[in-house]
Amino acid sequence: MVRRVKMKVSVKKGNLADYDCEAVIACHFEDEKKLTGDAEVLDKRCGGLLSRLLKDGDFEGKLFQTSVLYTDTFIKSRRIVFIGMGKRKEFDLEKLRGVFSKAAQKVRDLHLKNFAASLDFGTLDITQENLAESAVEGALLGLYRFTPYKTKEADKTPEVKEFALIAGSPKEVKITKDAAGRAEIISAAVYLARDLVSAPSNEMTPTIIADRARKMVKTRPVAIKVLDEGQMKRLGMNALLGVARGSAEPAKFIIMNYGGGTKGEKPVVLVGKGITFDSGGISIKPSANMDEMKSDMAGGAAVIGAMQALSDLKVPLNVVGIVPATENLPGGKAYKPGDILKSLSGTTIEVKNTDAEGRLILADALTYAGRYKPAAIIDLATLTGACIIALGDHLIGMMGTDDEMKGMVKKAADMTGDYVWELPLWQDYDEMLKSDVADVQNVGGRGAGTITAGLFLKKFVGDYPWVHLDIAGPALLAKEKPYIPKGASGVGVRLLVQFLRNRDSRKDA
Ligand code: BES
Ligand code: ZN
Ligand code: ZN
Repeated sequence: MVRRVKMKVSVKKGNLADYDCEAVIACHFEDEKKLTGDAEVLDKRCGGLLSRLLKDGDFEGKLFQTSVLYTDTFIKSRRIVFIGMGKRKEFDLEKLRGVFSKAAQKVRDLHLKNFAASLDFGTLDITQENLAESAVEGALLGLYRFTPYKTKEADKTPEVKEFALIAGSPKEVKITKDAAGRAEIISAAVYLARDLVSAPSNEMTPTIIADRARKMVKTRPVAIKVLDEGQMKRLGMNALLGVARGSAEPAKFIIMNYGGGTKGEKPVVLVGKGITFDSGGISIKPSANMDEMKSDMAGGAAVIGAMQALSDLKVPLNVVGIVPATENLPGGKAYKPGDILKSLSGTTIEVKNTDAEGRLILADALTYAGRYKPAAIIDLATLTGACIIALGDHLIGMMGTDDEMKGMVKKAADMTGDYVWELPLWQDYDEMLKSDVADVQNVGGRGAGTITAGLFLKKFVGDYPWVHLDIAGPALLAKEKPYIPKGASGVGVRLLVQFLRNRDSRKDA
């Protein structure tokens, strides 16, 4: 699969009005009488072109409101894309990502090859560094398209080739360049996760996802080991192998190891559910929307994406990424309701429903994670439909055993826009998982489906700080968001990376 061209991001010293390009971005906050920052400069240079719109009431600056103006010969750029930022006091980095995404999408809609912007929006209590990182991230993430299978009536809108950020001083140029570089790394990792999730399951089997992980580490200081079914059998990963039995595609257990920290320092282990297709197995799902279950490896994709970004950012931590990967199909050898599986931990599991397969493969992966005596474990999984009922597609369901760690995940979530909402691992629900014949059963009944899934996983996590993220809602979007086109979102990549970056700075403190 050939990756389409990605927009080049450059940082230049100078003035926006003197920069030669096809469009420049001007920003305005809602209901403010006066233009500020570089919008004011552009307006002056263009004889009041922008302020006239405000005066006539044609442009209020409502969030994402967009107008395209033609500049005649006043400035180098032929066009100004005038965009609303919403209310100044409500403005934050999440809105900025959306603004730059919408601006970049407008530039693409106009079939333009390049555009430029500055980050001078008047007084804001946000650092240049953060503005730059979020602006570049927003522009790149908003332009994502998944087109490798469109051979005929492909969207012919050409890709935007270059985005220039203009900064005033050499110091600003340096800060902006560094931040833009980080945003490119992070966005590339989100692109990777989105590509893995968008690919259909016939082209994203466990073998292929393992190959893609191998390809990712090839040019990076990340070690990889992929266990085959024989090796898993010898270890005793029978919960994972039970799920794999119904499929002709061999399961893979992917382990990526990034040693950015000091030798001997306990790693953080990231675990991602890698069901490359979830038919439900013998407890088969209804056919309507079953195609969406190609996205049941979104947790695994987020882990692979995060490993790429961590190593490119050279985050000074030891991090292990684990992706148990298999299909869940109802083949002739498939596991069946009533079957009992002996997991890697030794705990026996009665399979009440073969569609609750994610927790089975994660059980073995979480036990395996214990081998590293980790400083912390985070797992990400499109685990329960119940989480979509509870939280919709705007929030990740967060559960965990360690308050400090949950606080840190929440902080990273608020910084990145991969928002989380905590659900309780309320112990009283645990009895719903009691089996008559085995140590535990794999479903808890109708109520509290996300919590009982979390409580099930907890049984396989050793005594380590652990957070479980149910990403069933935000992983695949039926409708676009400001900087996430419809479809695979890449949720979790930025959250994981930010969590680890914050952890690193905490270490320094
Ligand atoms: N992969 C699904 C969860 C899911 C559903 C993710 C819809 C995204 C969209 C998971 O394996 C599953 O089928 N869970 C069952 C659990 C039930 C049998 C206890 C569910 O949610 O219905
Ligand atoms: Zn399932
Ligand atoms: Zn599933």
